Amino acid sequence: MTDLSDFSGDMIEYLAVQEQKTLLRFLTCGSVDDGKSTLIGRLLYDTKLIFEDQLASLERDSAKHGTTGEDIDFALLVDGLESEREQGITIDVAYRFFATAKRKFIVADTPGHEEYTRNMATGASTADLAVVLVDSRQGILRQTRRHSYIASLLGIRHIVVAINKIDLMGFSQEVYDRIVADYMEFAKDLGFETVVPIPMSARYGDNVTVRSENMPWYKGPVLLEHLEAVPVESDMVEKPFRMPVQLVTRPNLNFRGFSGQLASGRIAVGDMVTVAKSGQASKVKLISTMDGDLPSAEAGQAVTLVLEDEIEVSRGNILVAPEARSSVADQFQAKVIWFDAEAMIPGRSYILRTEADTTSATVTALKYHVNVNTFAHEAAKTLRMNEVGVCNFSTQSPIAFDAYRDNRATGNFVIIDRLTNKTVGAGMIDFPLRRSQNVQWQAVDVNKQAHAELKAQKPAVLWFTGLPGSGKSTLANTLEKLLHAKGKHTYLLDGDNIRHGLSRDLGFTAEDRVENIRRVAEVARLMADAGLIVLVSFISPFRSERRLAREMMDDGEFIEIFVDTPLEVCAERDPKGLYKKARAGEIENFTGVSSPYEVPESPEVHLHTVGHDPFELASRIEDYLTRMERKD
Ligand code: ADX
Repeated sequence: MTDLSDFSGDMIEYLAVQEQKTLLRFLTCGSVDDGKSTLIGRLLYDTKLIFEDQLASLERDSAKHGTTGEDIDFALLVDGLESEREQGITIDVAYRFFATAKRKFIVADTPGHEEYTRNMATGASTADLAVVLVDSRQGILRQTRRHSYIASLLGIRHIVVAINKIDLMGFSQEVYDRIVADYMEFAKDLGFETVVPIPMSARYGDNVTVRSENMPWYKGPVLLEHLEAVPVESDMVEKPFRMPVQLVTRPNLNFRGFSGQLASGRIAVGDMVTVAKSGQASKVKLISTMDGDLPSAEAGQAVTLVLEDEIEVSRGNILVAPEARSSVADQFQAKVIWFDAEAMIPGRSYILRTEADTTSATVTALKYHVNVNTFAHEAAKTLRMNEVGVCNFSTQSPIAFDAYRDNRATGNFVIIDRLTNKTVGAGMIDFPLRRSQNVQWQAVDVNKQAHAELKAQKPAVLWFTGLPGSGKSTLANTLEKLLHAKGKHTYLLDGDNIRHGLSRDLGFTAEDRVENIRRVAEVARLMADAGLIVLVSFISPFRSERRLAREMMDDGEFIEIFVDTPLEVCAERDPKGLYKKARAGEIENFTGVSSPYEVPESPEVHLHTVGHDPFELASRIEDYLTRMERKD
C-alpha cells in the first residue's frame, strides 16, 4: 500500500522524493486483545493510505464480521486474508508499507497467539523500533515482559509503550503513571536507547496521529510524530563489509561472479575482499547489478562481484573485509529463542541455518534459561516453547559468523527440525568457543583402513532398534556368535550393560535418552574406526538420534536393523517383568507404554520376529552383510 496523494503524475519525481526519505522499520507486539491490528489499521487509515475501494469492502466486511457495530473495524483492515478472518485468527508476519511527508515506514504485524514469538523473531530481525501494546485495564503482563525481553535480545533499540484503551479507564493519568512506572522499573536493564510511553486509544484515534483532547495532562509526542522523529540506524553501512554468497555464476569461462546482498559495509572496485573460511583474498574487478555496473555498492544492495583472481568461493561462504574478518568456528555460544511445542533437547541434532550457510548442529550444553519476569538465570534440561536460553552449539562443519551485537545480519541463525523441516528456534551468537580452536584433530598413521585391513574385514555399525522385549539383545547376541565363528572381529554394545557404566548417570526422560544414544554413537564410531564390526542394541526410540548416529559413520557403514515385534507380543513376553510394572504405574517413561517409540522409516533390514527363530533372523542379517561386502 503506498501513498498516492504524493503522486502527481510524474512517476520519476515521485520516486525520487520517496527515495530521499528515511525508512523506519518497526513492529508491534502485545497479547491477543491488546489492539495491535486496530492500532496499525488506525495508523494506515489516519494517514489516508487506504484506497477507496478497500475502504468500501472494509465497510462491507465490518458489517459482516466486525465486532464494533456500525463503526469500521480497523483490525479487519490489517488481519488481511479472508480465510484467516473466517478462522478468526491471524497467521504469520504481514509487512505493511506506508509513508508520510517525512518518512517511509514498514511495519511487521505479528499476530498475538501462541506462535507469537516465532513471528516476532522473524519480523523483528531488522526492526529499529517496537511498539509494545499494553491494555490499560490489565497493565504489564508476563507477555509484555517476554516480548520486551525478546525485543532487547533481537537488538531493537527503541521502544514505544502504547498504553492503549485508556478510554476504558476514563483517560486516567493515574492509571497511565502507574503502568509507566511498572514498565520503566522492569525495562531499566534491557539496554534500550529510548523508551517512550504514550497513552492512547487506537480505536478512537486518541494520540495515534492526532493529539487527544481527552488527555490534556499528556505532554509527550503522539505516536506518528514520534515514529517520524526517532533516529533510524543506518549503521549497517558503517560496519565492516560482509556479503554472504548466495550464488556462484559462470556465464562463460572468463567470468565467474559471486552474487549476494551486502549484509553490511561498502565495497568499491579495487577493494580487497577475503573469503571468510579459507582466508584467500582477491581484488574486486567488477561490481555488476541488474541495472548495469557500479563503481561501488553498500549494505542492502544486491550485486554480483567479479574478482581479479580465480579463488574458490562456494555457496554458503561469506566475502568479508580483510582488515575485519569474521569468526570461523564449529563451536560457539548463542542465545536461543525456542518456538516449537516440542522442547529443545541438548544432544539432539538440528539443522542450523545462517544467512550464508546450512549445517547440522547440536546443543552441547544448555547453560541456563532466562526467567523473563526476574531475568534470573535458571538451570534447565530443555528449552520449552517461548523460552529463551543460553546454549553452546557444535556444528558439523565450521561456519563463518560475527557476534550478534556486532552485526545482526551475520550473527543470527535459525534452527530447523530435521524431520518436520519446521523452524523451531532462532539464535543470536555471542562468541566463538576458543576450545574448538585449541583442540585439533590429530592425524594418525595407523588409520581406519590399516585397522580394517589387518582384520581383513569392512567395519560396520549394526544398529538394532525396537521396543523393550522385542528381541534386540537376543538377536544381536546370536549374530555376534555367527560372525565370531567366521573369524570376524566384533563387539556388542548393549543398552542394559552400557547403562551400568558409561551411561550410569542417565535415566529415561527424552533428554537422557538423547544423551545416551549420543554417547553410544560416539563409542560405536570409535570402534568402527578401530576396524571392528560393532553391534549396537538399544531401544533408541527417536528417529532424530538414529539419524544422528547414521550421519556420524562413513557412507554405507551404518546398518539400521528394525526388530519389529508388536507391542502386545513384547508385553506378553515381558522378559524382565517391566511392562507389568509400567502398566501398573510403577515405572515412568516406559517405551511403548508412557514414552513413544518412533518406527524406523527405511531401515536397511526390517525383521518381523513373530514366528521366526533368532538363528534364522540372524542368518538373514549375515546374508545382508555378505551381499554388501560383495558389492564393494
Ligand atoms: S534407550 O531408550 O536409551 O535406547 P536403552 O536401550 O539404553 O534405552 O535401555 C533400555 C533398557 O533399560 C531396557 O531394556 C529395560 O530393561 C530398561 N528400562 C528401565 N526403565 C526403562 C524405561 N522407562 N523405558 C525403557 N526401558 C527401560
